[in-house]
Amino acid sequence: MSRYQNTIDIDALLHTHKHGYALARDFYTHPAVFEEEFKQIFSRQWQYVDHISRIPKKGDYVVFNIAGEEIIVVRGDGDTVFAHFNVCRHRGSRICLEQAGSTKRLTCPYHGWSYRLDGSLAAARAMPIDFNPADHSLRSCQVKLFEGMIFINLTAEGEAVVPDFDAIADNLRPWIARADLGRTKVIDHKIYPSRVNWKIALENYFECYHCIVSHPELCAVQLHTLRDAHGTPKGRATFAEHNATWQAEAESLGHKTGGEQWGWGLPDEQNFMAQAHYAERMLIHHDLEAVYDKLEGGSATAAKKLLGHYAADDKGQVDWGILPSFFLYTSCTSTVIFRITPINELLTEMSQTWLVHEDAVEGVDYNTQDITWIDEVTMEQDEEIVRNNQAGVNSRYYEPGPLAKLEANMVQLHDDYLRLMRYGRRAPNNE
Ligand code: FES
Ligand SMILES: [Fe+2]
Repeated sequence: MSRYQNTIDIDALLHTHKHGYALARDFYTHPAVFEEEFKQIFSRQWQYVDHISRIPKKGDYVVFNIAGEEIIVVRGDGDTVFAHFNVCRHRGSRICLEQAGSTKRLTCPYHGWSYRLDGSLAAARAMPIDFNPADHSLRSCQVKLFEGMIFINLTAEGEAVVPDFDAIADNLRPWIARADLGRTKVIDHKIYPSRVNWKIALENYFECYHCIVSHPELCAVQLHTLRDAHGTPKGRATFAEHNATWQAEAESLGHKTGGEQWGWGLPDEQNFMAQAHYAERMLIHHDLEAVYDKLEGGSATAAKKLLGHYAADDKGQVDWGILPSFFLYTSCTSTVIFRITPINELLTEMSQTWLVHEDAVEGVDYNTQDITWIDEVTMEQDEEIVRNNQAGVNSRYYEPGPLAKLEANMVQLHDDYLRLMRYGRRAPNNE
């Protein structure tokens, strides 16, 4: 007998989840579930691609991979960015064969059809007299540029079932406007292809129950782990006390504090058209110098040049993100972006990108390795624990277990995911 059943009843699966427990094995392993997720989530929600500074000049492009699709994201004139499926309109060949590059035209290597950067067909040799190039532009998808970050939506322009990105941006802008992330540059970028289902990676990002066991360095550096990883009354009180002192100082500088989240707990139809996002600004640690003195890498002063319009470095950071793929920590001097992109049901690309002020000078204003050290250590630990998690979940004998109180965010994630999938399957536009 094969290890996996070929067909499954997705509706039954979606309706038999035990609230407050991990998901059943098929959610994390079955290609049919992944295909349904493509339809209800990946193909209609906004996905983070990259930072604009990675395609600084006209004709620069990156190829974005998601769920078996390739999208060419290419810079046009000025701030214009186009996104086209990497599928030739002649007989379907890949057009860009490299993951990044620079070009005047997008020329197919098979028979030489050549497209302008906006996707329109510029040249196709020896076609019949009635061939109309205007009918054979590349299939494009929607693009939004938000504070230097490029997001795409696989839905073609004008198709309605897309969450409103401008509303998301309006909610988040007050939290990050001071950082002016459009005027930053990438100082390092790392990709971690991981043999896990995307939800295992996302769940791990959303709970800090594992942090005490797996991330000693992170727990030393990030004071919020007293609240989110230890979660004891004493831990929560200590964090609250230091954070309150910091809050008064941050507010005296005109910097944001507190937090907001949007897109959770809405009625089904609105939930389907929303995309959850959040922002919280808090203290990193009240005594970072002393912490880093005891650690093997990193530095409390790894970056010195203030981002954007911060009045001073108040030791605060914005923890913000747009589900399901884009998560950041933005301090007053640097930011790190985590991207979680599904490739197939058992493969996920996780990546980290670090940004500093576009005018900052390495060795003077920042030291790359000192900035990236804590995130790399943490990511390597996470990559290993999620891989082990997936391996166990693949077992025929895996049974979903109960979640801890410190995993409450996971329950929220599951509720949102299940509602979205269920609604999508019965929505009028579902085929
Ligand atoms: S498949 Fe691209 S030119 Fe023929
Ligand atoms: Fe982790």
